[in-house]
Amino acid sequence: SSFHPFLQALPKCEHHMHLEGALTPALLFQLASRNNVQLPSTDPAYTSHETLLARYSRFSSLDDFLQYYYFAFSVLIHEIDFESLAWDYFQHASKDGVLHAEVFFDPQAHLTRGVTFATILRGFTAARKRAEAELGLTSELICCFLRHLPPLESVHTFNLPEVQASFDAQEIIGVGLDSSEKDHPPSLFKEIYGPAKTRGLRLTAHAGEEGPAQYIKSALDDLAVERIDHGVRLVDDPQLLRRVQQQGTMLTVCPISNVVLRGAESVKDVPIRKFLDSGIKFSINSDDPAYFGGYILENYCQVQAAHHLSVQDWETICRNAIEGSWCPDGRKQVML
Ligand code: HPA
Ligand code: ZN
Repeated sequence: SSFHPFLQALPKCEHHMHLEGALTPALLFQLASRNNVQLPSTDPAYTSHETLLARYSRFSSLDDFLQYYYFAFSVLIHEIDFESLAWDYFQHASKDGVLHAEVFFDPQAHLTRGVTFATILRGFTAARKRAEAELGLTSELICCFLRHLPPLESVHTFNLPEVQASFDAQEIIGVGLDSSEKDHPPSLFKEIYGPAKTRGLRLTAHAGEEGPAQYIKSALDDLAVERIDHGVRLVDDPQLLRRVQQQGTMLTVCPISNVVLRGAESVKDVPIRKFLDSGIKFSINSDDPAYFGGYILENYCQVQAAHHLSVQDWETICRNAIEGSWCPDGRKQVML
């Protein structure tokens, strides 16, 4: 549309994307072949990268998506695989006008397959350095814990010497909480967030995507998070909405993700206007771009098509995203 050049040029920060969610069906087939990984013959979706992409357009829920998302991890084996994955994302992000990205990854789902933390971290770190040098795109890594696993397993992962060392080296800026939300409230993960806060890590958690507004409250009260990932169910609790507005907590909203995973019927039903009118700070993000059919700019474009925002609305969104980023003030000044 005619808004495309304007939206493309906006100075963007992305705060909610899972690096593993940048694994396209094409790259999945390429890595499967390179690493001799057998794809399941029982699911016809894996016939070709085209049939897999077609299956991705028919997710019925967060859990339906997660099954494909975690299966795809099996092709990521070597440092170069992680580097290629992240570099592919950074190139897309830069083309879309992203200046700074704070990206998630899920170490537990790799460690259980025998891939070491060092392999993952070296690969991602190499891509981050290249993105800064060649694209001028700065980034931070956020280590996510999997809420569908027993919380003690997350505590164990958090305490691994190599994980603690990556915090000390400031190769990882903070912690997040993701995966299947229903019946896995934030309160179960206090034993990670308490110590994480004490050692100066930044804190965020997925809440209020498929789970209730109560989980947003739990993330704020029990985990002391600074941001809420998704948070769209906030509209169900007016009192909590006022509190989030007063505290200035930022939501990292993912409009296309919400539609594809059936949390919203269309982008029109994602409460963008309500958040703007209520003074809620939020950024607009891609979540898992290779699975949901759009990188960050496509999310901006679909929000514009559905909500008809003004230039001033977009300036507010981009300013809040820059100010809500976990980068040094000097970097924010350059982006503002
Ligand atoms: N929600 C929960 N877990 C996830 C997501 C998400 O949107 N993407 C990758 N893991
Ligand atoms: Zn997410």
